[in-house]
Amino acid sequence: MTTTHQPNNPIDSNVTAELFTIRDWIRFAVSQFEASDIFYGHGTDNAYDEAVWLIMSALHLPMDTLNNFLDARITSTERTKLAAFIEQRITQHTPTAYLVKEAWLQGLRFYVDERVLIPRSFIAELLNSDLTASDLNTDSLSAWIEFPEMIESAADLCTGSGCLGILLANAFPNAAIDVIDISQDAIDVANINIANYGLEAQVTAIKSDMFSALTGKKYDVIISNPPYVDAPSMAALPAEYQNEPQLALGSGVAGLDHTHTILREAANYLNDDGILIVEIGHNREALEAAYPNMVFTWLEVSSGNEFVFLLTKSQLE
Ligand SMILES: C[S@@+](CC[C@H](N)C(=O)[O-])C[C@H]1O[C@@H](n2cnc3c(N)ncnc32)[C@H](O)[C@@H]1O
Repeated sequence: MTTTHQPNNPIDSNVTAELFTIRDWIRFAVSQFEASDIFYGHGTDNAYDEAVWLIMSALHLPMDTLNNFLDARITSTERTKLAAFIEQRITQHTPTAYLVKEAWLQGLRFYVDERVLIPRSFIAELLNSDLTASDLNTDSLSAWIEFPEMIESAADLCTGSGCLGILLANAFPNAAIDVIDISQDAIDVANINIANYGLEAQVTAIKSDMFSALTGKKYDVIISNPPYVDAPSMAALPAEYQNEPQLALGSGVAGLDHTHTILREAANYLNDDGILIVEIGHNREALEAAYPNMVFTWLEVSSGNEFVFLLTKSQLE
């Protein structure tokens, strides 16, 4: 069943002329959001946080200056912009990230627009954790990568905005990183983020249908947050997610088409001691049923240990 959304009402332009300060605008946005049926899930989970993010970011004000500027008055040009953003958020269900052209992952800001998925990967947590800490639990990534500075090559397959590839570059400063996507739009956005972080010498964006353009390449680490939404969930997505590229979400009936390709081919692109790390959403049970002889290691992330698996090259062969 396809979810249909009643359009929320456009906002009244006379009312917005009565709003003067940032405090007024945050209050107004919260009221509008609360009265609408918008869905949260791209960086915030409530009307207040969403309103503060939209307004501060639209005004190009750092979030930690909110208290200083609450009673600052805004110009008529800024007012027009805020009114348009709030209206688009409630009537089109456009995610705030697309309105303000930014998303945050592990404290890093990434440029995003409608050409890419809004970053929200569990793999980011793993790359941001202290990889140099010795942790012998096999569900921690540091147990598998003893010396991050010795990683020479890594790939982020299905990179979207390039966010995970940039975190890879930070985690493995001596590695050459390839970030790969089938979508030229995604490659273009990834290149914006690579340039914004000054990583052109370390990170290369490659347009490729999965591994097809990577012939002859070998990596120490391959990570992937591929599309993994199953068909029933695709049909019931909130409108906010329908505003994202559908190519970034759906992966066949069971949500595992891309993961099957990765499991079939990744060993050919890994060095002998190489490892593969893949995010699969809520598909752990289906995946283990499909590969009863595969010994997956499930890495611990903030929401549990069923979303990201690790396999070595020898386990894949
Ligand atoms: C879930 S998004 C992940 C984006 C990014 N890694 C992140 O975590 O925000 C999946 C990405 O896979 C890309 N993709 C879909 N099919 C692909 C394919 N056959 N080969 C390579 N990339 C593909 C999509 O364009 C999308 O950018």
